Amino acid sequence: MADMALDSYSKVQIGVDYYPEHWDESMWETDIKLMKETGVKVVRVAEFAWSRLEPSDGSFDFAWLDRALDLFHAYGIQIVIGTPTATPPRWLTSAHPDVLPVLAGGGVFHPGVRGHRCYNSASLQQYGSRIIEALARRYSGHPAVIGWQTDNEFSMLDCHCDSCNLAFRSWVQKKYGTLEQVNSEWGTVVWSGEYSAWEELTVPYGGSPFQNPSLLLDFQRFQWDAVIAYQKTQTEVLRAICPRHFITHNFHSYPQRLDMHGLAEALDVAAFDYYPNPSPQKQATAPYSGALSLDLTRGIKRRGFWIMEQLSGPPGCWFPMWRTPYPGLIRAYAWQAIARGADTVVHFRWRSAAAGAEQFWHGLIDHSNVPGRRFAEFARLCGEVNALAPLLEGTRVISRAAILYSHEQLAALRIQPQAEGLDYYENIKQYHRALTKLGIGCDVIDWRQPLEGYKLVIVPSLYLHDEEAAQLLESFATGGGTVILTSRSGVKNMNNICVMQPLPGLFSHAAGITVEEYDPVGGEVHSLRSAEDLRYKCSQWCDILRLQGAEPVAWYADDFFAGAPAVTMNRFGAGKVYYIGTQPEENYWLKLLGDAARDTGLTPVPELPDGVQAFTRTGEQGELLFLLNLSRTAQTVGLDKAYRSALSGSLRTGAARLEAYDIEILQAEDGSPQEG
Ligand code: GAL
Ligand code: ZN
Repeated sequence: MADMALDSYSKVQIGVDYYPEHWDESMWETDIKLMKETGVKVVRVAEFAWSRLEPSDGSFDFAWLDRALDLFHAYGIQIVIGTPTATPPRWLTSAHPDVLPVLAGGGVFHPGVRGHRCYNSASLQQYGSRIIEALARRYSGHPAVIGWQTDNEFSMLDCHCDSCNLAFRSWVQKKYGTLEQVNSEWGTVVWSGEYSAWEELTVPYGGSPFQNPSLLLDFQRFQWDAVIAYQKTQTEVLRAICPRHFITHNFHSYPQRLDMHGLAEALDVAAFDYYPNPSPQKQATAPYSGALSLDLTRGIKRRGFWIMEQLSGPPGCWFPMWRTPYPGLIRAYAWQAIARGADTVVHFRWRSAAAGAEQFWHGLIDHSNVPGRRFAEFARLCGEVNALAPLLEGTRVISRAAILYSHEQLAALRIQPQAEGLDYYENIKQYHRALTKLGIGCDVIDWRQPLEGYKLVIVPSLYLHDEEAAQLLESFATGGGTVILTSRSGVKNMNNICVMQPLPGLFSHAAGITVEEYDPVGGEVHSLRSAEDLRYKCSQWCDILRLQGAEPVAWYADDFFAGAPAVTMNRFGAGKVYYIGTQPEENYWLKLLGDAARDTGLTPVPELPDGVQAFTRTGEQGELLFLLNLSRTAQTVGLDKAYRSALSGSLRTGAARLEAYDIEILQAEDGSPQEG
């Protein structure tokens, strides 16, 4: 039977993060009443409140949270509870110092900020499970509670504590069985690194990035598994006691060295903490890196998601404050999140903290407690989202293009940077930005995911590879798909060992080329020539390609490799495989991706003005076209047909003018899908 509480994660609504424990109890009802009047539907609480929920070992105090949740319920506001394990209290860390992570150099990650918890610590697991169980029992039947957030913003700690050391050793034992196997798979013979007893095998003490790259990569994999196992200690308790509640986790700051996809297997819905930089000098990039973050979050579970923390004021404290959000920016970025598939957007935070380290990471309301301009904008957003929720609920983002993202490639390329400026994630930003400018919706999915339904797949550097990866691309192309594979692919096996075959390794067959030689040109600017004899800049890397069935698409135009193919296209089965041997400038990506998209039946729009984005959500009642102006200047976007504004009801034809940070949500008058 479909369950109300479980389904509630797909509601389209606005929420806030609220810390009842930070404010005098006499303020709660006034705050909650204002939330209700403003149109807030959901609130996240308690993710750092361990010292208040369990003031001393084993003695729990839920009375204050009961009173807060009862008040929220009285006003019809729903609640997500964060498990408080990112901030173990002082009584716990002093009695059980194994909770604290140990850094590579031997220093302890002391309490005082947050995130001071080693995922492999037996004490953390024991005390963490105990408080989560107590919370779950207390609130499984509370009428306001709909779901849980595990911990807060998981990230890699590279912990070198004794528990991690032992756990790493057994992880390696389990993976390879014998020391002989470890020695051979990691190539430890180099620099006399061979292990002769298991006790010699440790976490990479000292933290030098120049240790054996196979060891370093497996150390990362071990940590990914440890976070997953740690989260399981939470989700198992929650599932058993609160079967009607959903579970999420708030990911943040991409790229994260985390197996987000693996972590999300235990979750119902993924969440992201979205803080676009509001400073004008970031205006050219923030809307695009933001769009990528949103697409990546949607790709974690390949469905709608939550924003668990959304920008509400000038960020600060971790650095001198950034600019305050320009009028319209808070609303426009919340709509951008919804346009890219967020269902619930929770704003961080209701009011700026009066105490503690984050006093100047501003909330919706300032310390004065007088709601101002930003709050008025937030109230408008709540009104709009509530009015349009019936139209938006059940709609989703459907993309015909995808980028294959891999946390393993990210990690391996961070362990051994290949050339100055060659950064896995920064390069993804470039293609993603070009797609966004062309109005081509794009999913960003895990590289091992099935590719059914896509027409165009961009494959950033598959530096580590295996048969499975080659098969995936070959069968996609055989079935008529277009693959765009970039340089530094097919370099290594999955254990971070270079393979003894011409590059791009197992991808050569599908790409119809081999790499004769390469030149890590780094920050130098080189030159490409297209078939139309146009010149484009390129940098980072130059693969000099030998054709083995592929056709050249662009050639180098300078240096000793002038005239050699740089970009190629191979017809493979019913599809095509492009190989891009260098990192071209944006104009080239716009041309190449635009041509490839048109060729596969996608319809790119004429390049959108800087900062303007167009996305669609599709449902049974047709498509909703979101036009967002994420810039400080008014912009105009041409319309391909007549539309009606879902916001104002007015007819829009010819062109839509959008003021600074304004947005429009359009439905085609004739109900047909728009271009792009
Ligand atoms: C997030 C975190 C919040 C708050 C915010 C502002 O990373 O989850 O608790 O700290 O950043 O820094
Ligand atoms: Zn540890």
